[in-house]
Amino acid sequence: MSFEGKVALVTGGSSGIGLGIAKELASLGAKVIITGRQDAKLDAAVKEIGGHTKGIKADVSNLQELDTLYAAIKSEYSTLDILVANAGFGILAPLGAITEEQYDSIFDTNLKGVIFTVQKALPLMGSGGAVVLIGSTASIQPGTMMSVYGATKAGLRNLARSWIDDIRGSGIRINVVSPGPVRTQSLYDFFPAEKRDEILAQLETKSTVGRLGQPKDIAKAVAFLASEDAGYINGVELIVDGGASQI
Ligand SMILES: NC(=O)c1ccc[n+]([C@@H]2O[C@H](COP(=O)([O-])OP(=O)(O)OC[C@H]3O[C@@H](n4cnc5c(N)ncnc54)[C@H](OP(=O)(O)O)[C@@H]3O)[C@@H](O)[C@H]2O)c1
Repeated sequence: MSFEGKVALVTGGSSGIGLGIAKELASLGAKVIITGRQDAKLDAAVKEIGGHTKGIKADVSNLQELDTLYAAIKSEYSTLDILVANAGFGILAPLGAITEEQYDSIFDTNLKGVIFTVQKALPLMGSGGAVVLIGSTASIQPGTMMSVYGATKAGLRNLARSWIDDIRGSGIRINVVSPGPVRTQSLYDFFPAEKRDEILAQLETKSTVGRLGQPKDIAKAVAFLASEDAGYINGVELIVDGGASQI
């Protein structure tokens, strides 16, 4: 598999899963652009990824910043071949204690952010282009306190299913990769400190391959769906979780 000559954008590519995806695409020859909201994280990630990588500060929930991002990509690269809409986050919010602020912030990033990240990218993309949305197994098994997060990730699946019909004939494919728990800083921070070790051990046991995911596990699935090898795959949600959500 080679992405030589291809231009790829990974939103939220400055840490965790997005960083893993950016590294994988760069190692396969793509010129990679990563985004995030913090310059220092972006600079460190650009160094770590190497190759033809560029970091552009842009908050996906801010439409003007998305316009500036795509104007910069148009001016420097003219085109975009691969888009990975990865920027997102989770919250623990039990019914009865869900706040409007939590709702607004997570829907603004995980759904509004993805909708406009993709819509505004399309004019730069042509036939052979590939979009991969990063979902979560919370879309099918949210579990306790994860209803709001799970709703945003379930929403991505239906965006993809509708969008592939909307852009029928464009030659651009759109798929979703939904990870189970992946070893990132945000996963550790997600759980209350006093329960973290216990929860992580339970999650490890649930995986039928006996471990939690690594960013590289997700990156390999994304690279496949972005490649021509997946040319007949469109609108799927590929679950990458060591089988945990299937049993
Ligand atoms: N880790 C897991 O176990 C897991 C499991 C299933 C799904 N996921 C999904 O995978 C994706 C990445 O998660 P992760 O664990 O890798 O998280 P992470 O390490 O916190 O990385 C998130 C990335 O997104 C950026 N980001 C966050 N909000 C943003 C915004 N509004 N605009 C632009 N960039 C933004 C962050 O940089 P800045 O903070 O500098 O903006 C960072 O680069 C998310 O969509 C998450 O829901 C994660």
